[in-house]
Amino acid sequence: MVDVQHRFYGESKPFGNDSYKSAQTLGYLTSTQALADFAVLIRSLKHNLSAEDAPVVVFGGSYGGMLASWFRLKYPHVAIGALASSAPILQFDYITPWSSFYDAVSQDYKSESLNCFSVLKATWDVLDERGANDKGLLELSKLFKACKTVKYAYSIRNWLWTAFTYTAMVDYPTPANFLENLPAYPVKEMCKIIDGYPTNTDILEKAFAAASLYYNYTGNLTCNPIEDEDDPHGLGGWQWQACTEMIMPMTVSNESMFPPSSFSYHDRSEECLESWGVRPRPHWVTTEYGGYKIDKVLKRFGSNIIFSNGMRDPWSRGGVLKNISSSIIALVTEKGAHHLDFRSATKGDPDWVIEQRRQEVEIMQGWIDQYHQDMAEIYY
Ligand SMILES: *[C@@H]1O[C@H](CO)[C@@H](O)[C@H](O)[C@H]1NC(C)=O
Ligand SMILES: *[C@@H]1O[C@H](CO)[C@@H](O)[C@H](O)[C@H]1NC(C)=O
Ligand SMILES: *[C@@H]1O[C@H](CO)[C@@H](O)[C@H](O)[C@H]1NC(C)=O
Ligand SMILES: *[C@@H]1O[C@H](CO)[C@@H](O)[C@H](O)[C@H]1NC(C)=O
Ligand SMILES: *[C@@H]1O[C@H](CO)[C@@H](O)[C@H](O)[C@H]1NC(C)=O
Ligand SMILES: *[C@@H]1O[C@H](CO)[C@@H](O)[C@H](O)[C@H]1NC(C)=O
Repeated sequence: MVDVQHRFYGESKPFGNDSYKSAQTLGYLTSTQALADFAVLIRSLKHNLSAEDAPVVVFGGSYGGMLASWFRLKYPHVAIGALASSAPILQFDYITPWSSFYDAVSQDYKSESLNCFSVLKATWDVLDERGANDKGLLELSKLFKACKTVKYAYSIRNWLWTAFTYTAMVDYPTPANFLENLPAYPVKEMCKIIDGYPTNTDILEKAFAAASLYYNYTGNLTCNPIEDEDDPHGLGGWQWQACTEMIMPMTVSNESMFPPSSFSYHDRSEECLESWGVRPRPHWVTTEYGGYKIDKVLKRFGSNIIFSNGMRDPWSRGGVLKNISSSIIALVTEKGAHHLDFRSATKGDPDWVIEQRRQEVEIMQGWIDQYHQDMAEIYY
């Protein structure tokens, strides 16, 4: 197994500390270039190992899953197949309804308890009202154990928003530490916290306690860095990608637990010009990789791709959820979360995850067997 680092992430900084400085250097941070890196690396590695004929299967989760599936489509001579876990390749343009992501998050909380959903939905107005002046912000800073007095109520809003959205993504059936340390089924645990309070408790106290499950499950946080512009998950490069190719329009419908919001290509373009000096190419992904009518296209063109998704993960809504052909397979679990199948096997794994992983291995074994059969045939 080879774990390849995507350019501009982790230690792969082509211009050292200057890599993120300007569009001059960041221009080399594209999915197309990353895919080409993988092709060059795989060929070079196989050459060095004298394993030119060894079949290669590419794996990826999330954005990595999108890359894995696109790699199979663009470089079929380099990879015999792809396992794309939680890959939202349809979260672009007008393919997937823009509100589906936050509708899915809301559905996760609603499925635990209606009270939980209603408390979270009611949080935002109360927050805006109480954070409308300096005195209110001071009180909120204390309530939310902020490291420094918060200047804007929307910072607390974002802090809560992140907690509730990310927890939905990582609603794993076993304790995990993908983004933060969390117990099994953390959405259920958050709702238990909310439902455990007497009804007349301050709504923001409930929301804070719920969000603290996400940020402070280990209990060793002394204060919350609500307005610190740190980057705990190393997503700096993604901000650039989200302003160039990876335009995933998202809105919040009024049935959601979040405050309703809209999306505008024009506004995004202005924001990106302001922060990075570039305007996005919002329709480039569907031009370069496709996406519209994917079932019709891939049925006649592609092969050997597994798209796996867990429906607790809001990204699943932009994924491929139906079988397209006998070798372009969708594996969907109702209770799965963000690339759960790629997490290490652990003792508490429910049967349906074990079965999903078994099926993935079986399908990939079939591709490899087929490959060897094909190689054994004589061509002229
Ligand atoms: C890059 O930045 C890091 C962290 O600030 C620093 O330790 C390192 O010396 C810098 N490297 C160069 C080549 O300037
Ligand atoms: C293969 O070997 C060459 C020559 O030693 C080296 O430059 C290259 O980095 C190697 N490729 C990989 C993928 O390790
Ligand atoms: C984190 O949890 C511990 C243990 O419950 C608590 O003492 C501490 O105040 C919490 N920190 C924050 C920032 O909420
Ligand atoms: C918090 O607790 C976790 C788990 O016990 C531990 O890995 C981590 O190092 C602790 N962090 C700090 C700042 O003490
Ligand atoms: C919610 O939005 C829908 C469609 O945009 C609209 O018809 C409906 O009146 C809205 N409901 C509320 C309560 O605002
Ligand atoms: C796709 O086909 C496989 C069998 O090859 C099946 O196990 C799976 O449930 C199907 N997926 C969907 C979403 O129907």
